[in-house]
Amino acid sequence: MEQNTPKIPKIISVANQKGGVGKTTTAVNLATALSAVGQRVLLLDLDSQGNATTGLDIRRSQIEGSVYEVLFGDISPLQSAMKTKVPNLHVIPSSIHLSGAEIELVSTENREFKLRNALRQTMPYDYIIIDCPPSLSLLTLNAFVASDSILVPLQCEFYALEGLSHLVKTIERVKTHFNPVLDIQGIVLTMYDPRNKLSAQVAEEVRNHFGEKVYNTVIPRNVRLSEAPSHGLPAIVYDMKCAGSQAYIQLAREVIAREKTSPNNGPKNDDVPSVRVNAA
Ligand SMILES: Nc1ncnc2c1ncn2[C@@H]1O[C@H](COP(=O)(O)OP(=O)(O)O)[C@@H](O)[C@H]1O
Ligand SMILES: [Mg+2]
Repeated sequence: MEQNTPKIPKIISVANQKGGVGKTTTAVNLATALSAVGQRVLLLDLDSQGNATTGLDIRRSQIEGSVYEVLFGDISPLQSAMKTKVPNLHVIPSSIHLSGAEIELVSTENREFKLRNALRQTMPYDYIIIDCPPSLSLLTLNAFVASDSILVPLQCEFYALEGLSHLVKTIERVKTHFNPVLDIQGIVLTMYDPRNKLSAQVAEEVRNHFGEKVYNTVIPRNVRLSEAPSHGLPAIVYDMKCAGSQAYIQLAREVIAREKTSPNNGPKNDDVPSVRVNAA
Protein backbone atom coordinates (compact mmCIF):
# COMPACT_ATOMS: atom_id res chain seq x y z
CA MET A 1 0.00 0.00 0.00
CA GLU A 2 1.19 3.50 -0.77
CA GLN A 3 2.51 5.12 2.38
CA ASN A 4 0.24 8.15 2.15
CA THR A 5 -2.88 6.69 0.60
CA PRO A 6 -5.87 8.13 2.44
CA LYS A 7 -8.43 5.58 3.62
CA ILE A 8 -11.14 5.28 6.23
CA PRO A 9 -9.13 4.23 9.27
CA LYS A 10 -10.13 1.46 11.64
CA ILE A 11 -11.32 3.10 14.84
CA ILE A 12 -10.75 1.28 18.14
CA SER A 13 -11.89 2.70 21.49
CA VAL A 14 -10.00 1.70 24.62
CA ALA A 15 -12.70 1.78 27.26
CA ASN A 16 -13.69 0.76 30.77
CA GLN A 17 -15.71 3.04 33.02
CA LYS A 18 -13.39 2.23 35.93
CA GLY A 19 -10.44 4.53 36.47
CA GLY A 20 -6.90 3.24 36.91
CA VAL A 21 -7.33 -0.06 35.05
CA GLY A 22 -4.71 0.70 32.38
CA LYS A 23 -6.75 2.37 29.60
CA THR A 24 -4.28 5.16 28.92
CA THR A 25 -1.23 2.91 29.27
CA THR A 26 -2.85 0.49 26.84
CA ALA A 27 -3.96 3.19 24.36
CA VAL A 28 -0.51 4.83 24.25
CA ASN A 29 1.51 1.62 24.02
CA LEU A 30 -0.84 -0.16 21.64
CA ALA A 31 -0.80 2.91 19.38
CA THR A 32 3.01 2.98 19.54
CA ALA A 33 3.32 -0.75 18.89
CA LEU A 34 0.99 -0.49 15.89
CA SER A 35 3.05 2.38 14.49
CA ALA A 36 6.22 0.37 15.13
CA VAL A 37 4.98 -2.36 12.80
CA GLY A 38 4.39 0.17 10.06
CA GLN A 39 0.78 1.22 10.66
CA ARG A 40 -0.07 4.93 10.50
CA VAL A 41 -1.79 5.69 13.80
CA LEU A 42 -3.75 8.60 15.21
CA LEU A 43 -4.30 8.54 18.98
CA LEU A 44 -7.25 10.57 20.16
CA ASP A 45 -7.20 11.64 23.82
CA LEU A 46 -10.83 11.85 24.88
CA ASP A 47 -10.14 12.14 28.62
CA SER A 48 -10.10 15.65 30.10
CA GLN A 49 -7.27 14.47 32.39
CA GLY A 50 -5.08 14.42 29.29
CA ASN A 51 -2.76 11.67 30.49
CA ALA A 52 -2.17 10.31 27.00
CA THR A 53 -1.37 13.82 25.78
CA THR A 54 1.20 14.59 28.49
CA GLY A 55 2.54 11.03 28.35
CA LEU A 56 3.49 11.78 24.74
CA ASP A 57 5.23 14.99 25.79
CA ILE A 58 2.68 17.35 24.25
CA ARG A 59 2.62 20.61 26.22
CA ARG A 60 -0.46 22.76 26.59
CA SER A 61 1.32 25.73 25.02
CA GLN A 62 1.94 23.76 21.80
CA ILE A 63 -1.70 22.81 21.31
CA GLU A 64 -3.52 24.78 18.62
CA GLY A 65 -6.64 22.68 18.36
CA SER A 66 -7.81 19.93 20.68
CA VAL A 67 -10.27 17.08 20.58
CA TYR A 68 -12.84 19.52 21.96
CA GLU A 69 -12.84 21.61 18.79
CA VAL A 70 -12.82 18.43 16.69
CA LEU A 71 -15.84 17.10 18.58
CA PHE A 72 -17.87 20.22 17.85
CA GLY A 73 -16.73 20.38 14.22
CA ASP A 74 -14.81 23.64 14.65
CA ILE A 75 -11.64 22.14 13.16
CA SER A 76 -10.86 18.99 11.24
CA PRO A 77 -9.04 16.06 12.85
CA LEU A 78 -6.15 16.60 10.45
CA GLN A 79 -5.80 20.23 11.54
CA SER A 80 -5.51 19.23 15.19
CA ALA A 81 -3.34 16.10 14.78
CA MET A 82 0.14 16.69 16.20
CA LYS A 83 3.35 14.80 15.56
CA THR A 84 4.88 12.87 18.44
CA LYS A 85 8.42 11.59 19.02
CA VAL A 86 7.23 8.27 17.58
CA PRO A 87 7.35 8.04 13.78
CA ASN A 88 3.91 7.23 12.27
CA LEU A 89 2.14 8.21 15.50
CA HIS A 90 0.11 11.42 15.69
CA VAL A 91 -2.10 12.59 18.52
CA ILE A 92 -5.20 14.72 18.84
CA PRO A 93 -4.62 16.27 22.26
CA SER A 94 -7.07 16.48 25.12
CA SER A 95 -8.45 19.72 26.53
CA ILE A 96 -9.71 20.81 29.92
CA HIS A 97 -12.81 22.05 28.08
CA LEU A 98 -13.77 18.39 27.60
CA SER A 99 -15.07 18.28 31.17
CA GLY A 100 -17.76 20.78 30.17
CA ALA A 101 -18.40 19.14 26.82
CA GLU A 102 -20.78 16.61 28.39
CA ILE A 103 -23.21 19.33 29.36
CA GLU A 104 -22.83 21.16 26.06
CA LEU A 105 -23.50 17.95 24.16
CA VAL A 106 -26.81 17.26 25.91
CA SER A 107 -28.62 20.01 24.02
CA THR A 108 -26.82 19.43 20.70
CA GLU A 109 -28.49 17.92 17.67
CA ASN A 110 -27.24 14.39 16.83
CA ARG A 111 -25.32 14.50 20.07
CA GLU A 112 -24.27 10.84 19.87
CA PHE A 113 -22.82 11.30 16.37
CA LYS A 114 -20.56 14.32 16.82
CA LEU A 115 -17.31 12.35 16.95
CA ARG A 116 -18.37 9.92 14.25
CA ASN A 117 -19.19 12.78 11.89
CA ALA A 118 -15.77 14.28 12.57
CA LEU A 119 -13.78 11.06 12.18
CA ARG A 120 -15.55 8.99 9.53
CA GLN A 121 -13.70 10.29 6.52
CA THR A 122 -10.67 9.28 4.51
CA MET A 123 -7.47 10.15 6.31
CA PRO A 124 -3.80 9.22 5.95
CA TYR A 125 -4.10 6.75 8.86
CA ASP A 126 -4.65 3.01 9.21
CA TYR A 127 -5.87 3.17 12.82
CA ILE A 128 -7.44 5.67 15.16
CA ILE A 129 -7.12 4.67 18.82
CA ILE A 130 -9.42 6.51 21.24
CA ASP A 131 -8.41 6.77 24.91
CA CYS A 132 -11.79 7.01 26.66
CA PRO A 133 -12.61 8.74 29.95
CA PRO A 134 -13.44 6.63 33.04
CA SER A 135 -17.22 6.80 32.64
CA LEU A 136 -20.05 5.70 30.38
CA SER A 137 -20.90 9.30 29.65
CA LEU A 138 -21.99 11.00 26.45
CA LEU A 139 -18.32 11.38 25.52
CA THR A 140 -17.72 7.63 25.77
CA LEU A 141 -20.97 7.07 23.87
CA ASN A 142 -19.63 9.32 21.11
CA ALA A 143 -16.47 7.19 21.01
CA PHE A 144 -18.54 3.97 20.74
CA VAL A 145 -20.74 5.37 17.97
CA ALA A 146 -17.62 6.41 16.06
CA SER A 147 -15.78 3.10 16.53
CA ASP A 148 -15.47 -0.18 14.69
CA SER A 149 -14.60 -2.00 17.88
CA ILE A 150 -13.80 -1.67 21.55
CA LEU A 151 -10.79 -2.91 23.45
CA VAL A 152 -11.45 -3.37 27.15
CA PRO A 153 -8.54 -3.36 29.61
CA LEU A 154 -9.39 -5.30 32.75
CA GLN A 155 -7.25 -5.04 35.86
CA CYS A 156 -6.46 -8.35 37.54
CA GLU A 157 -8.01 -7.50 40.89
CA PHE A 158 -10.89 -8.73 42.98
CA TYR A 159 -13.50 -6.34 41.59
CA ALA A 160 -12.41 -6.75 37.97
CA LEU A 161 -15.71 -8.12 36.69
CA GLU A 162 -17.82 -5.65 38.60
CA GLY A 163 -19.31 -3.16 36.18
CA LEU A 164 -18.29 -5.20 33.16
CA SER A 165 -21.85 -6.33 32.46
CA HIS A 166 -22.92 -2.67 32.46
CA LEU A 167 -20.19 -1.93 29.91
CA VAL A 168 -21.22 -4.89 27.74
CA LYS A 169 -24.89 -3.80 27.89
CA THR A 170 -23.94 -0.27 26.87
CA ILE A 171 -22.00 -1.63 23.89
CA GLU A 172 -25.02 -3.76 22.91
CA ARG A 173 -27.30 -0.74 23.16
CA VAL A 174 -25.03 1.37 20.97
CA LYS A 175 -24.91 -1.51 18.49
CA THR A 176 -28.70 -1.75 18.36
CA HIS A 177 -29.49 1.94 18.17
CA PHE A 178 -26.55 3.74 16.62
CA ASN A 179 -23.76 1.57 15.22
CA PRO A 180 -24.60 -1.96 14.02
CA VAL A 181 -20.98 -2.94 13.21
CA LEU A 182 -19.71 -2.25 16.72
CA ASP A 183 -18.05 -5.20 18.44
CA ILE A 184 -15.69 -5.95 21.28
CA GLN A 185 -12.22 -6.31 19.69
CA GLY A 186 -11.09 -8.04 22.84
CA ILE A 187 -10.49 -7.92 26.56
CA VAL A 188 -6.93 -7.51 27.79
CA LEU A 189 -5.90 -8.46 31.31
CA THR A 190 -3.65 -5.77 32.80
CA MET A 191 -1.35 -5.44 35.82
CA TYR A 192 -1.03 -9.18 36.08
CA ASP A 193 1.17 -10.27 38.97
CA PRO A 194 2.27 -13.91 38.72
CA ARG A 195 3.23 -13.96 42.43
CA ASN A 196 -0.29 -13.02 43.41
CA LYS A 197 -2.73 -15.94 43.45
CA LEU A 198 -5.64 -13.57 42.99
CA SER A 199 -4.28 -12.44 39.60
CA ALA A 200 -4.39 -16.02 38.31
CA GLN A 201 -7.88 -16.57 39.74
CA VAL A 202 -9.24 -13.39 38.16
CA ALA A 203 -7.63 -14.29 34.82
CA GLU A 204 -9.23 -17.73 34.93
CA GLU A 205 -12.63 -16.36 35.84
CA VAL A 206 -12.51 -13.78 33.04
CA ARG A 207 -11.47 -16.44 30.51
CA ASN A 208 -14.28 -18.75 31.64
CA HIS A 209 -16.73 -15.92 31.22
CA PHE A 210 -15.57 -14.34 27.96
CA GLY A 211 -13.74 -17.19 26.25
CA GLU A 212 -11.83 -16.23 23.15
CA LYS A 213 -12.76 -12.58 23.49
CA VAL A 214 -9.87 -12.44 25.97
CA TYR A 215 -6.51 -11.88 24.28
CA ASN A 216 -3.84 -14.51 24.91
CA THR A 217 -1.47 -11.68 25.76
CA VAL A 218 -1.53 -10.62 29.40
CA ILE A 219 0.04 -7.30 30.45
CA PRO A 220 2.19 -7.86 33.54
CA ARG A 221 2.51 -5.39 36.38
CA ASN A 222 5.70 -3.63 35.37
CA VAL A 223 7.17 -0.49 36.87
CA ARG A 224 8.70 0.61 33.55
CA LEU A 225 5.17 1.06 32.18
CA SER A 226 4.36 3.52 34.94
CA GLU A 227 7.70 5.36 34.76
CA ALA A 228 7.64 6.02 31.03
CA PRO A 229 5.00 8.81 30.93
CA SER A 230 7.06 11.01 33.25
CA HIS A 231 9.78 10.91 30.58
CA GLY A 232 7.24 11.91 27.93
CA LEU A 233 7.66 8.61 26.14
CA PRO A 234 5.60 5.49 25.51
CA ALA A 235 7.10 2.57 27.45
CA ILE A 236 7.85 0.88 24.14
CA VAL A 237 10.26 3.69 23.29
CA TYR A 238 11.48 4.29 26.87
CA ASP A 239 12.45 0.64 27.38
CA MET A 240 11.50 -1.64 24.55
CA LYS A 241 12.99 -4.72 26.18
CA CYS A 242 11.03 -4.60 29.45
CA ALA A 243 8.31 -7.19 29.99
CA GLY A 244 5.53 -4.59 29.77
CA SER A 245 6.68 -3.27 26.39
CA GLN A 246 7.11 -6.76 25.01
CA ALA A 247 3.57 -7.61 26.12
CA TYR A 248 2.13 -4.56 24.34
CA ILE A 249 4.01 -5.48 21.16
CA GLN A 250 2.47 -8.95 21.41
CA LEU A 251 -0.96 -7.41 22.00
CA ALA A 252 -0.61 -5.28 18.87
CA ARG A 253 0.04 -8.43 16.82
CA GLU A 254 -3.13 -10.00 18.23
CA VAL A 255 -5.14 -6.86 17.51
CA ILE A 256 -3.93 -6.81 13.89
CA ALA A 257 -4.62 -10.53 13.51
CA ARG A 258 -8.20 -10.03 14.76
CA GLU A 259 -8.73 -7.11 12.41
CA LYS A 260 -7.78 -9.33 9.49
CA THR A 261 -10.31 -11.99 10.43
CA SER A 262 -13.09 -9.57 11.37
CA PRO A 263 -15.93 -9.05 8.86
CA ASN A 264 -15.22 -5.31 8.67
CA ASN A 265 -11.69 -6.25 7.57
CA GLY A 266 -8.62 -4.29 8.56
CA PRO A 267 -5.30 -3.57 6.93
CA LYS A 268 -4.63 -6.18 4.30
CA ASN A 269 -0.90 -6.73 4.59
CA ASP A 270 -0.40 -10.46 4.86
CA ASP A 271 2.46 -10.42 7.29
CA VAL A 272 2.85 -8.52 10.49
CA PRO A 273 6.24 -6.94 9.88
CA SER A 274 8.94 -6.95 12.51
CA VAL A 275 9.09 -4.21 15.09
CA ARG A 276 11.10 -1.05 14.48
CA VAL A 277 11.02 1.72 17.04
CA ASN A 278 13.24 4.73 17.15
CA ALA A 279 12.24 7.99 18.67
CA ALA A 280 12.67 10.81 16.16
N1 LIG B 1 0.88 -2.99 33.71
C1 LIG B 1 1.14 -1.99 34.57
N2 LIG B 1 2.12 -2.14 35.50
C2 LIG B 1 2.37 -1.14 36.39
N3 LIG B 1 1.71 0.02 36.43
C3 LIG B 1 0.73 0.21 35.52
C4 LIG B 1 0.40 -0.78 34.55
N4 LIG B 1 -0.63 -0.30 33.79
C5 LIG B 1 -0.91 0.93 34.27
N5 LIG B 1 -0.11 1.26 35.31
C6 LIG B 1 -0.16 2.47 36.13
O1 LIG B 1 -1.41 2.48 36.79
C7 LIG B 1 -1.98 3.79 36.80
C8 LIG B 1 -3.32 3.77 36.08
O2 LIG B 1 -3.09 3.40 34.71
P1 LIG B 1 -3.79 4.20 33.52
O3 LIG B 1 -3.30 3.60 32.26
O4 LIG B 1 -3.60 5.68 33.68
O5 LIG B 1 -5.30 3.81 33.77
P2 LIG B 1 -6.67 4.49 33.29
O6 LIG B 1 -6.38 5.24 32.03
O7 LIG B 1 -7.61 3.34 33.09
O8 LIG B 1 -7.11 5.40 34.39
C9 LIG B 1 -0.95 4.69 36.14
O9 LIG B 1 -0.15 5.27 37.13
C10 LIG B 1 -0.14 3.74 35.29
O10 LIG B 1 1.19 4.20 35.10
MG1 LIG C 1 -6.74 7.25 31.49
